[in-house]
Amino acid sequence: MYFYSSKVKEIDGEITPAKPLTNLWTDIPYNGIAREGGVEFKNGKKPERLIERCIDLCTQKGDLVLDSFAGSGTTGAVAHKMGRRWIMVELGEHCHTHIVPRLQKVIDGQDPGGVTQVTGWQGGGGFRYYELAPTLLATDRWGNLVINPEYDAGMLSAAMCKLEGFAYAPSEALWWQHGHSSERDFIYVTTQTLGAEQLDALADELGPERSLLVCCGAYRGVTAAQAAQRWQQLTIKKIPKMVKDRCEWGHDDYSLNVANLPMAAKWPIEPAQDDLFGGDAA
Ligand SMILES: C[S@@+](CC[C@H](N)C(=O)[O-])C[C@H]1O[C@@H](n2cnc3c(N)ncnc32)[C@H](O)[C@@H]1O
Repeated sequence: MYFYSSKVKEIDGEITPAKPLTNLWTDIPYNGIAREGGVEFKNGKKPERLIERCIDLCTQKGDLVLDSFAGSGTTGAVAHKMGRRWIMVELGEHCHTHIVPRLQKVIDGQDPGGVTQVTGWQGGGGFRYYELAPTLLATDRWGNLVINPEYDAGMLSAAMCKLEGFAYAPSEALWWQHGHSSERDFIYVTTQTLGAEQLDALADELGPERSLLVCCGAYRGVTAAQAAQRWQQLTIKKIPKMVKDRCEWGHDDYSLNVANLPMAAKWPIEPAQDDLFGGDAA
């Protein structure tokens, strides 16, 4: 004789026939997943139901879910439908062919498969898509660190602004203003070797009320101490060295220490269902 009460559990407020999960999950079928999300991905695609269970077990609405091997984008698609925020990283071309179109369909409410019904997903939200830039420092044939020749002037200037905590905002009128950290503090980036005459000219243009970080390939004719004495409103740094100084080498523990990145808008702690994907924070 069995008592049915031993076979049911209260799940989300409802008495439901259930049994505890073991570490072997055989109840989620793989058949039919090939077309889930409207994208075919031969190696390693998982059913949305499986990912939904994993996300459900360890996250709440509004949490961040990371998949650094995004593949066909199942994790992001499911996380999005479940009201989680997500970050996906992918190095393959299927970023363009699979992930972006798949997530676009989820957002447009045009993906009826997978966990759309069980999550009650109807569409909404958005995402930002970034392409990783090439390495900023490269090694020349003598083994010296140099600025990667793949960088053009704009990319280099934007990268230096990010590293040094400046907002990248090149001025059309003033050739030496590539960004600013305040109304009076600016950054100028050049791969040139600057001499005393050019630094004199820069200091004259700047005047005594403003300060300028000059990132250059090199400077000649003065020592660092002399430069600091002579042009008090200028801070002069050599680019390969200043980038190198921002890197950490030979550690056992590379704990994340990210500073000065622009902050996204704050996510509400308890987002209402309707507000979950308002704005561009997803
Ligand atoms: C098995 S698939 C991931 C499947 C995916 N989670 C899903 O369920 O659809 C692994 C993916 O990791 C990507 N990958 C491998 N090395 C990587 C790396 N270093 N950075 C980013 N993506 C990488 C591969 O291109 C491949 O698409």
